[in-house]
Amino acid sequence: TTYQQPFRPQYHFSPRINWSNDPNGLVYYDGEYHLFFQHNPVDSHWGHMTWGHAISRDLVHWRELPPAIPEENGVMIFSGSCVVDKNNTSGFGRDGRVPMVAIYTGHEPNRQTQHIAYSLDKGRTWTKYQNNPIIDLNKKDFRDPKVFWYEPSQRWVMAVVLPTEKKLLFYNSSNLKQWTKTGEFTAADSPASVWECPDLIEVPVEGTMERKWLLMLSMGNNGAAGGSGMQYYVGRFNGLTFTNESAPGPTRFVDWGKDYYAAVTYNNLPVRGNRGAISIGWMANLHYAGEVPTSPFRGMMTLPRELRLVKTLTKSYELVQRPIQELKQLLGPAFRWNGTDVSQLNQSLVNAGVSGDSYVLTAELEPIRTESGVRVRQGKTAQGDTEATVVGYDPLKQQVHVDRTRSGLVAFKKEFAGRFTAPLKPQNGRITLQIWVDRSSVEVFGNDGLITLTNQIFPSPDSLGIEFYGNALRSVTVQAVEGIWK
Ligand code: FRU
Repeated sequence: TTYQQPFRPQYHFSPRINWSNDPNGLVYYDGEYHLFFQHNPVDSHWGHMTWGHAISRDLVHWRELPPAIPEENGVMIFSGSCVVDKNNTSGFGRDGRVPMVAIYTGHEPNRQTQHIAYSLDKGRTWTKYQNNPIIDLNKKDFRDPKVFWYEPSQRWVMAVVLPTEKKLLFYNSSNLKQWTKTGEFTAADSPASVWECPDLIEVPVEGTMERKWLLMLSMGNNGAAGGSGMQYYVGRFNGLTFTNESAPGPTRFVDWGKDYYAAVTYNNLPVRGNRGAISIGWMANLHYAGEVPTSPFRGMMTLPRELRLVKTLTKSYELVQRPIQELKQLLGPAFRWNGTDVSQLNQSLVNAGVSGDSYVLTAELEPIRTESGVRVRQGKTAQGDTEATVVGYDPLKQQVHVDRTRSGLVAFKKEFAGRFTAPLKPQNGRITLQIWVDRSSVEVFGNDGLITLTNQIFPSPDSLGIEFYGNALRSVTVQAVEGIWK
């Protein structure tokens, strides 16, 4: 079948064929979660940017539909967002049908402008607005509009970046067609070369009734692991502009791995208690996104994550990210172990035949002096060497690390191999690592989502081993994750 290649993600979204990058237009409407994405419909390299389209009823199982918004007349369809215009403020609605409106960047060789298109059939077919562009600043770099409804002012809000100036611009509109600039945000402490794909959303603060505004930005370079990455700020939003309340200091990285970019959140989610925002990212690094050895597709999405904030002892807010609950339906019976003897743990894994390329592993560590962790996707290469991806914890440095220097194919680009770290302190003397392994990825969630490390790997299909090391392991569970492509 189409989804059985050696590096084909089994429970992450990837396009059936050809190139994909950023998730776009994440929106829920009438029982369907939409995932649009940057797509080249004719080749497995970047180009002819078009919005590809997939839908899901549960955010887990995806069905790819024909491309939604095509490149035309030399205008590429760059990243952007989608809203459900329930009150027909745009006037695009007809016969009581609610318009879905996409707001995206029209890209021409020397000009980027903001455009809209609408759909009256739940995102299946789209009509570009005849008076596009809706915002033209006569700039070469001006892109990635995130639009959402701001209830208190009954206005649409757009956050859009001037990438090279690292400036976020805010606009308001009552009809999605005419926009008025209302504010700007810059951050002197950002190490990024450019900002792309902004996302601004109000999220709950864990264990309180409080909500704060989370601004996430994609950084063209100087990400946590080198190359591209993402950073965030926490603050206030009054409908007109964002005010940062995060103290200046070390960059607040969204993810500490090498492959986390362009993540944005869903619009119009059904209200369910105090649920956090839900994001999806592109699992890639701009250093080598065009060279990863996958075929006949290139580019995959991360797991959807639920986003919240926690208030720290120093009274600042930190992002927590957890895989969405809906993923539980994919989990098989659990292998469980408790103890202190790692060789006995490894022996019970072998006895139980626990191995694979599609599972979630949770390990609880009581870190004492030396490094402990696990080697996943372990096996022998054709040359007889051992390959594996190492996920470990160093109690002296208080860091989680993912080492993919000998994880399989790494030589296609010099920036690929590497060891990436994230700071993490024990809580009540414990470190927990939740590790989601798929055919070409490893996503690590440390201490219930306080840090994440997202990385691609390209091991041999036969490298299926799991082996723990070190004296800190106290409990382990492993559950197979069922594939989503039927
Ligand atoms: C980020 C990005 C966006 C742009 C799109 C083009 O990866 O460069 O800024 O809209 O990709 O495909």
